[in-house]
Amino acid sequence: MQIARTIADMKRLRRKCRGTVGFVPTMGYLHEGHLELVRVAKKANLVVAVSIFVNPTQFAPSEDFKAYPRDLDRDLSLLKSVKTDIVFIPSEAEMYPEGYNSWVVLKGITETLEGRSRPTHFQGVTTVCNKLFNIVEPDKAYFGQKDAQQVLVIQKMVADLDMNLEIVVAPTVRESDGLAMSSRNTYLMPEERQSAVVLYKSLCLAKEMYEKGERDAARIKAAMAELITTVPGAQIDYISTSDIDTLQEVDQIAGKILVSLAVRIGKPRLIDNIILG
Ligand code: PAJ
Repeated sequence: MQIARTIADMKRLRRKCRGTVGFVPTMGYLHEGHLELVRVAKKANLVVAVSIFVNPTQFAPSEDFKAYPRDLDRDLSLLKSVKTDIVFIPSEAEMYPEGYNSWVVLKGITETLEGRSRPTHFQGVTTVCNKLFNIVEPDKAYFGQKDAQQVLVIQKMVADLDMNLEIVVAPTVRESDGLAMSSRNTYLMPEERQSAVVLYKSLCLAKEMYEKGERDAARIKAAMAELITTVPGAQIDYISTSDIDTLQEVDQIAGKILVSLAVRIGKPRLIDNIILG
């Protein structure tokens, strides 16, 4: 496993690659969700590169950038265990040197859901992914369905800007009780960890109602909210049923619908989603 800490080193390693390069961008503190993306990438590419960079520009000043969990030694041994070929670990000064002032801004689908609660978030994500794609020059980049809106935003950026790579989406990896794996789950106190499964349970309830024939979005969202409010310490940020392409809210469940939610459980704000139809 080769490690690049500067952009120049990463570009040098990229130039030596023969065959296709699969790329998994991450913010580290890796878990099975990340490792599964590496495994999927390994199957389809000769070389797999992973980046670890806690990207400051996608955090608002009030958010957890400083407190975001970090453990590079553990991350590197996990990446070795899944046979990662290249790890890119740039510093903040390397990615955003003094005077840095270029941004990639995608309009429309970045303004709802996560974007409504975190108005500058997606500008940070699109900018850093654009930079990472330019540095790593992957044939394919791998993203998790866990962050459904991020997937749509990246796919749209790649299409709008005619970028030369394919975006591959892998399913959400869950704990045995259904909680979606997330680096932020480490913030949960033991009793909050029990409560956190309510996000998944509420999505299962939505699916069950849909399978029994319910098509009224308001009734589904109300049932989800009712379930979540039974859990102590759970604070709903949003519950949404939206069109999978435009992310506009729908009144009726027809076609492919993204059911997504953000709930604060104690300190962390957790997100999850499923697709109906
Ligand atoms: P991070 O939260 O570290 O996630 C890196 C990748 O892992 C993302 O594509 C995310 O969707 C995926 N992932 C996280 N948890 C998952 C799970 N339980 N199952 C499947 N995939 C999962 O997302 C980011 O970092 C950043 O925004 C980034 C794209 C790296 C840009 O800074």
